[in-house]
Amino acid sequence: MFSWFKLQNRPIVIAHRGASAIAPENTLAAFSLALECNSDAIEFDVRLAKDYQVVVIHDATLQRTTNGRGKVHQRTLAELKQFSAGKWFDKKFETEKIPALQEVLQFVRRRVGMNIELKHYGTKKEGEILVEKTIQLITESGAEKCCLLSSFQHQLIQHAFKFNAKIARGIIFHTFLITKNSFGRVLNTTSPQFIFFNKVLAMKKRITQFRQQGLACGIYTINTEQELHKALRYGSDCIFTNTPETIRSFL
Ligand code: G3P
Ligand code: MG
Repeated sequence: MFSWFKLQNRPIVIAHRGASAIAPENTLAAFSLALECNSDAIEFDVRLAKDYQVVVIHDATLQRTTNGRGKVHQRTLAELKQFSAGKWFDKKFETEKIPALQEVLQFVRRRVGMNIELKHYGTKKEGEILVEKTIQLITESGAEKCCLLSSFQHQLIQHAFKFNAKIARGIIFHTFLITKNSFGRVLNTTSPQFIFFNKVLAMKKRITQFRQQGLACGIYTINTEQELHKALRYGSDCIFTNTPETIRSFL
C-alpha cells in the first residue's frame, strides 16, 4: 500500500486534479484515468459545502468547471450534485458530478496515494471544521497512510497537526513566506514532511536546503519533458502533472 511516509527511491508521479489533461479536473473520471496511467498518487482540492459536507472542487465558484453558477459554500451537497462537472470539458463527460470526499476515498480504496489540498478562505472556525471533517473521513476509510494533507493556508495544516499528527502534511510554498523568520515559524507550527513549489518559484538551492533538512519536495505543474528534466535536476521528489501518462513514459 502506498505510504507518504515511505517514498520509493525515485520521484513519484502525482496526477494533478486527476489526469486533468484528458478528463475534467477533480472528477471520478479524471481519478480513474490517473489510476490507469499508473500514477503513484492523485492530487485533488477540497472545500466545504453549505451543509459542511467536504466536496472536491478547485474553485470557490461553480462557473469554470460546472454548468452551475454562484459559490460552492452557498450550496448543499445535494444541490451541488445537480450540476454537471464534466460537460464543460467534453460532452462525453456530461454525467460527471462534483464528488464528495467520501466517494473519492471509496473509489480509490487505498490503491494510490492521495494528496488532499485543503482550500478555505472563510472563517477560522469553518476552516477547522473542514480539517476535522476531512481527517474524520480519512480515518473512517482506513486511508491515513495513503493520504497527505496540504494547503496554501498554513493555519489549516497547523490545525491538522494538532488534530491528528499521524496524517502526513505538506506546505505549499508562497512568495510572502520567503523571509526566513516567517517561514521558519510555519515549519515549526505545522511540522510538515513535504513542501511543494510552483514551478516558477522552484529553485535548486532552496530545494536542496529543504531536502537537507529532511523535507521531501515537489514541483507543480510539470507537463513537458523539458520541465521534467528541470524538476529532476532540482532534485524534486514529487512531480505534479496533468499528464501522468506522458511523464511516466519519460521517467
Ligand atoms: O498542490 C499543488 C497545486 O494543486 C496547487 O495549486 O491551484 O492547482 O490547487 P492549485
Ligand atoms: Mg490543488
